[in-house]
This record gives sequence, C-alpha cells and structure tokens, in this order.
Amino acid sequence: MAQSHSSSSPSSIFVIIAIATCSVFLAVPSRALEAGSRAEKGSCDLYAGSWVDDESYPLYDSGECPFIRKEFDCQKYGRSDHFYLGYRWQPTGCDLPRFDGKDFLERLRGKKIMFVGDSLSLNIFDSLACLLHAAVPNATITQKTQRDFTMYAFEEYEVVVALHHSLFLVDVDVEPEGRVLKLNSIKSGEIWREMDVLVFNTWQWWNRRGDKQPWDYVQDGVTVLKDMDRMDAFHTALLTWANWVDTQADTEKTRVFFQGVSPSHYKGEEWHEPGVTNCSKETRPINGTTYPGGLPTASLVINDVLSGMIKPVTLLDITNLSQLRKDGHPGMHNGLDHMDCTHWCLAGVPDTWNELLYAELQS
Ligand SMILES: *[C@@H]1O[C@H](CO)[C@@H](O)[C@H](O)[C@H]1NC(C)=O
Ligand SMILES: *[C@@H]1O[C@H](CO)[C@@H](O)[C@H](O)[C@H]1NC(C)=O
Ligand SMILES: *[C@@H]1O[C@H](CO)[C@@H](O)[C@H](O)[C@H]1NC(C)=O
Ligand SMILES: *[C@@H]1O[C@H](CO)[C@@H](O)[C@H](O)[C@H]1NC(C)=O
Repeated sequence: MAQSHSSSSPSSIFVIIAIATCSVFLAVPSRALEAGSRAEKGSCDLYAGSWVDDESYPLYDSGECPFIRKEFDCQKYGRSDHFYLGYRWQPTGCDLPRFDGKDFLERLRGKKIMFVGDSLSLNIFDSLACLLHAAVPNATITQKTQRDFTMYAFEEYEVVVALHHSLFLVDVDVEPEGRVLKLNSIKSGEIWREMDVLVFNTWQWWNRRGDKQPWDYVQDGVTVLKDMDRMDAFHTALLTWANWVDTQADTEKTRVFFQGVSPSHYKGEEWHEPGVTNCSKETRPINGTTYPGGLPTASLVINDVLSGMIKPVTLLDITNLSQLRKDGHPGMHNGLDHMDCTHWCLAGVPDTWNELLYAELQS
C-alpha cells in the first residue's frame, strides 16, 4: 500500500513513498482503443437524472477493499448511518449500466488507464481499484509507487490503473526566487502519451491562499506575478492543457476525458439550509434533478475550454449529480482529524463516476 500521513489539509493527502521504478508504466503492450467509433448516445444524457434507492448498492464492501485509504474509509471511522451507500444514479432518459469489473478489465485488456489531477483524482482512482478488486478478488494485483505516481497492475488482464498526482496539470517549478506556477508549461506529457485512457481533473487548489498555496509566483507568458485573478489563471492553464491535447495527444490511440468539478458542501444556503456550515448532519441526497445552488463558475470555464478544442475529449460531467449528494462526504468520519465535505466516502459517489466512465468507454 502507498503510505500517507495525515495533515491539516484535506487535499494534501498524497504523500507517496517511492518503492519502485517508473519503468513498469511502460511494461504493458498497448492496443488502440476504438477511439474512432464512438456511438452517439442519442437522446439520453447520462448526466441528467436523480438518485434513487437501490438495495443492491453499494457495489462493494469497503471493509473488503485492501486499497481504501483512511481519508475515504467512512465506515471504519465510525460513520453510523448507511443510507448514503444505498443509492443508484438514474438518468432521466435511460439506465446507466451497472459496473461490471470483469467486463471492464476484459475491455481494457492490455491497456493502461491513468487519472491525472488532485485528490479528487485519488478519490476516483481508489474507487476504481476497489470496484475492480471486488470483481476479481483473487487476481494478482501489483502495486508500484514512485514520486507522484501510483499504479495497480492487474497482471492476468495486463491492465494498468494509474494515478498521476498533479494539482494544477501545468507545472510548478522550484526556481531560485521560489516556487513558480507556470500557466503555459506542461512537462508531464511524455508519460501521459503512453496511456490508452486519460482522465484529467484540476480545480480544488486554484483558490488556495496563504499556507495552503503551494506556489510563490505565477507566470503567465513572460510575466511573473505575485498573484493574479484565480479564475483567469485556471482558464489559462486549462487552455495550455487543451493545447497539449490538441497538438500532442494521439486521440486515435488514447481516449481523453476531463473530469468535471467535484462539488463541496460547506454552504447550507446552497440547499436551503442557511446557517449550516458543513456536511456533518447530512444523511440524505437532495431529491430531484437540480441543485438549488446552481453550477460552480469553474464548471463554466471548463465547458468553455472544452468547446474550443479540436481533438475529441469527453467531459465526465460529474458536477450536477454530485452536487445532489450532500450526504456523500466523510465529514469527521475519516482517518484525518478534520471535517471533510470535499472528498467522498468509499464506497460511495465516486463509484458512480466510474460507472459513468465505464458507460462512456462502451460508447
Ligand atoms: C478466491 O479464492 C478463494 C480461496 O481460494 C475461494 O474460496 C473463492 O471462491 C475465490 N473467489 C473467486 C471470486 O474466485
Ligand atoms: C459542523 O456544523 C455543526 C452544525 O451544523 C456545528 O455545530 C459544528 O461546529 C461544525 N463543525 C465544524 C468542524 O465545522
Ligand atoms: C424526498 O423524497 C422522499 C421519497 O420520495 C420523501 O420521503 C422525502 O420526504 C423527500 N424529501 C424532501 C426533502 O423533499
Ligand atoms: C446541471 O445544472 C445546471 C443548473 O444548475 C443546468 O443548467 C444543467 O442543464 C444541468 N446539467 C445536467 C446534465 O443536468
């Protein structure tokens, strides 16, 4: 298991101990995904719908998952209500296929999937590891971690499920004057290019200031600043990422996704409970299809950037459905010592993100 330490920040939970080399990322032969033959989903929008009770959920027992991290292990850390485990996402116009781990592994046989981003990428990655382990509990699973990379190889299937921890997607370089967030620079592309499926995400860290801001200067073009408008910085960095995909990614081989903004629940006024400042009392989702608080601005920036791209990129549009799940966060029930209404319990909401990914990979 990768090791981690607790800290005061819910998103600084990635401290990975290097135990192996990176070469294993390259060890699995690659075959092209059917990137050119994507079927239209017709009239069904998988991302518009509501949560329904379903006794056949959750999809795995968190106590049986050897990969689950303490940040997400709500049952182990004393969450006593079980309602949040028993919901299924029901799109309005069709059904979402239930996650089938063996089928997922067969479809990806010989391929590599990588999640790239902040701790919300860790959340979906950890969910996928648990979902697959539950499907093939006796499979040989080799774990390797090095620096910002973690991977699980499902040896019998020659499938690699990998995580690249990257807070901003663009680079943060340590220079004599300090740490510089470089909005126009991406140096990790060579590793990304090896993958058959890439799922990118970034947002949580763009608004951090003070001790929680992991850079000292921000560089935009030739201009180096002490600070700038954070939404503009996010927008510029996403354009840099989009340009990387448009010019460097081989989308005939690699299926590219962007994972939408994962919502937090600290502002009760967003769901008509003014005065509520965290998710600790939330045990039920919001009924219906629409979150009263509206979409986060960052979502609009993502939509804008994706709409201007040349190469095909699929938005894994988790924002609306996750907004409805104010009940899905750990609260105090994690192995850290603080309230977390940003990440998600496992089993839980990220399992649905993976069901959506599974559905998209079939289309
Ligand atoms: C895994 O192995 C155990 C012990 O060998 C066996 O009892 C169990 O049925 C196996 N599970 C699956 C899903 O093959
Ligand atoms: C969480 O919210 C409750 C009331 O809803 C409040 O009593 C408690 O102090 C809050 N805890 C934290 C850590 O914010
Ligand atoms: C949500 O729907 C359930 C089942 O239809 C109902 O029992 C509950 O009262 C509703 N809650 C709210 C807040 O409307
Ligand atoms: C998500 O919610 C926004 C409003 O908050 C709405 O405009 C949009 O259509 C919704 N998207 C889906 C897929 O339901």
